[in-house]
Amino acid sequence: MLAEVASVLRCPVCGLGLELREARLVCDQGHNFDIAREGYVNLMPGRVRHEGDSSAMVEARERFLAGGHFEPLAALVAGRAAAVALAERPVVLDLGASTGYYLRAVLDSVDSARGVALDASKFAARRAARAHDRVGSVVCDIWHELPVRDLSVQVALNVFSPRNGPEGARVLAPDGALLVVTPEAEHLAELVGPAGLLSVDERKEDRVRAELEPHLSLVAADPFEFELNLGRSDARALIEMGPSARHLSADEIEARLDAFSWPLPVTGAVKLWIFRPATP
Ligand SMILES: C[S@@+](CC[C@H](N)C(=O)[O-])C[C@H]1O[C@@H](n2cnc3c(N)ncnc32)[C@H](O)[C@@H]1O
Ligand SMILES: [Zn+2]
Repeated sequence: MLAEVASVLRCPVCGLGLELREARLVCDQGHNFDIAREGYVNLMPGRVRHEGDSSAMVEARERFLAGGHFEPLAALVAGRAAAVALAERPVVLDLGASTGYYLRAVLDSVDSARGVALDASKFAARRAARAHDRVGSVVCDIWHELPVRDLSVQVALNVFSPRNGPEGARVLAPDGALLVVTPEAEHLAELVGPAGLLSVDERKEDRVRAELEPHLSLVAADPFEFELNLGRSDARALIEMGPSARHLSADEIEARLDAFSWPLPVTGAVKLWIFRPATP
């Protein structure tokens, strides 16, 4: 619910704090933002610059995640977040939250925490608004100024999503941490290679460091592997939720899936990075 997190949000037009008044968030300069019927608020100022994932991609992500194949990763993220979220009522900010799957896992493991889900996709924001009682869901563009107050966040999450170093550093509290999950080159390789799907940019590692290290201190970068046993419908959902979905028709996806025997054992291979505010 947005009521849980209104005090963490700021006006995207003037930067003043927002407060909840009836079904709106308002600032002292009179800028106001309606809360949508589905429970999220759009704080993307002006023209929409980035639409994020489509309705079909978000629906596929929800279907795939419901299969539980990424539960080991959610448990890892929740465990690391719980170790950091020591404040009395910690704020957890999920950048590119989509359905709020990882944010929910963190809130389930930290009873006192409240969460803010950010995503450019209104389809994602609708689902994240229902992810947990203690989540407020916001549409915004991560590549621009975040509608979040300075030093207000104990844990920020970037799971397979766009990062913003300067804004991450601005919103993190002094005792906060940014947890970043990126795919390794061999992530889901048993499916990605033979099915001809888009694969990970090999320079990703350098990119993460270049984006974040000027603004935050890297304190850990741990590889994590987990096994998945995918049924054909899981693999279909995995393709439909990712970047290949934009290039393949439903028939092309089925033709590629025909080449495998099911269930298919696949390896998840990611890196979990932890960044802290840089000490002056
Ligand atoms: C690969 S998905 C990961 C979603 C989620 N963290 C998960 O792992 O289930 C990336 C998400 O980032 C969102 N996104 C992409 N570009 C964005 C931007 N510039 N601002 C905000 N969200 C963005 C997409 O809409 C999508 O939901
Ligand atoms: Zn304002």
